[in-house]
Amino acid sequence: MDSKIIEKNRFAITTPLYYVNDLPHVGSAYTTIAADVLARFWRLQGKSVLLITGTDEHGQKIQRAAEQAGHSPQEHCDQIVAGFKSLWQQLGIKHDRFIRTTDPRHEAIVKEFFQRVWDQGDIYLGRQEGWYCVSCEEFKEERDLLDDHYCPVHPNRQAEWRDEQNYFFRLSRYQKQLEALYTERPNFIQPEIRRNEVLNFVQQGLQDFSISRVNLDWGIPVPVDPAHTLYVWFDALLGYVTALLEPDCAPTLESALETWWPINLHLIGKDILRFHAVYWPAMLMSAGLPIPDCVFGHGFLTKDGHKMGKTLGNILDPVALVNRYSADAVRYYFLKEIEFGRDGDFNETRFVNILNADLANDLGNLLNRTLKMVHKYFGAQVPASAQTVAGLDNPLAEKGRDLGDRTHQAYHNLCFSEACEAILTVVRAGNKYIDEQAPWSLYKQGEHLAVEEILCTVLESVRLAAYLLSPITPALSTKIYEQLGFSVNFNDQRLIDVTAPFSNHSQWGALPPGQPLGEPNPVFQRLELLEAVPL
Ligand code: MSP
Repeated sequence: MDSKIIEKNRFAITTPLYYVNDLPHVGSAYTTIAADVLARFWRLQGKSVLLITGTDEHGQKIQRAAEQAGHSPQEHCDQIVAGFKSLWQQLGIKHDRFIRTTDPRHEAIVKEFFQRVWDQGDIYLGRQEGWYCVSCEEFKEERDLLDDHYCPVHPNRQAEWRDEQNYFFRLSRYQKQLEALYTERPNFIQPEIRRNEVLNFVQQGLQDFSISRVNLDWGIPVPVDPAHTLYVWFDALLGYVTALLEPDCAPTLESALETWWPINLHLIGKDILRFHAVYWPAMLMSAGLPIPDCVFGHGFLTKDGHKMGKTLGNILDPVALVNRYSADAVRYYFLKEIEFGRDGDFNETRFVNILNADLANDLGNLLNRTLKMVHKYFGAQVPASAQTVAGLDNPLAEKGRDLGDRTHQAYHNLCFSEACEAILTVVRAGNKYIDEQAPWSLYKQGEHLAVEEILCTVLESVRLAAYLLSPITPALSTKIYEQLGFSVNFNDQRLIDVTAPFSNHSQWGALPPGQPLGEPNPVFQRLELLEAVPL
């Protein structure tokens, strides 16, 4: 990410505002987990963080879903929103704001913003003809559709022909300004592959896009012509602004933008890149507002190598997944197994194997057997050699010494799997070190000081690994910290304030000598594959 971003003391990050046509999809969980991990990482660095998520509730897609369910749109949205909130809680997501685009304050923000753009002369009435995919809420070029006008993103849905009067936004006017933005701020769109997609698209020449619909009730009326309803994307993107309003302040653009604008990072999936990296900055330029720092488009998830879909009957339900395997397991798998930015796959056998290998065996067992030895040889406290942990000179300490910086850099660049890999490499080195050193034999030979040093080094490597993994596996890291004698809950951010004794914990050598240790208990139960009950 742009190094300017980290220099600021505030960090505002958004997930997409999810459609509420249905209960949350594993794709929504994926973006939200990644955003939460990043938010936790920056909070550990002592930054003020605002993590925004929420729901996109207007438009034809939602209206039809409500009709099919036999509910009013608002009832339908309320029900589905409860499902999102409950999943975020189960997954340990610590969002600071949850914005719903049906919030009455949102309408006030949208109207004010529309007026600004209108006053610029950037909105006009025109005729829209074309193929519309309601599931994408997007007009499609005929050449991009499958046979019989089926949508490539929703192969079971046909695009519908539309020919109507719509209000248009003059996107074409912002061609040059957008090109200048991409040149002057090369990190605005990430990763590189997405940036190139956008550059190619923009180079073909931008066309104005319609921002209103007729024959649609479920949405915000166009302020200058209430016979029209605002296009759901025009309304939804502004949810990022409404989310910034403090609970009791008046819903004006000025107060919304006062503290947290511009957003530092919009985290999204690659399918909605154009809206965030082309339409959105152009809308903001028209309204005279600063542009967010960065839009990052991650890849798509498949299941067992196949695209997921309702008609294919292979949807992975995130609620079932977390209920079966725990939040930490789900968070770890998606961030460790998939290089962030690329497409990735879910496979239950691989899921179980990775979790068992990394967290149950490599990390959990290392702590368990080391703690047992410490208890047996030196009593329930960190041996006195910890006084010198920071200065210990052995191959494991050497590996641990630059782990904090390397992991920091990886999180900073959204390379979550690289962060996990770096941490696990040290954990594996810890296992190798203890096997090679065989402290149990040394103890028998009376080499007590050497044993102290070995066990302290290993405990410290486990501590550091737990701390650096805590944005991803907060519950596991809390258990490890408890057994190492710390009183900290990584799920309670107030306790991990950098002014507290944890400011140096991201670096090697923070394990205090003499600290009373907890009882050795397995911190991560081995997972069992339930093949008989497929997810
Ligand atoms: N409502 C819009 C976003 C408006 S933001 C102002 C929307 N919602 S969505 O619910 O359809 O999609 C939300 C996110 O889920 C998108 O970022 C999308 O990329 C992501 N995913 C949907 N399916 C996915 C996978 N199979 N894999 C990974 N992410 C995917 O779009």
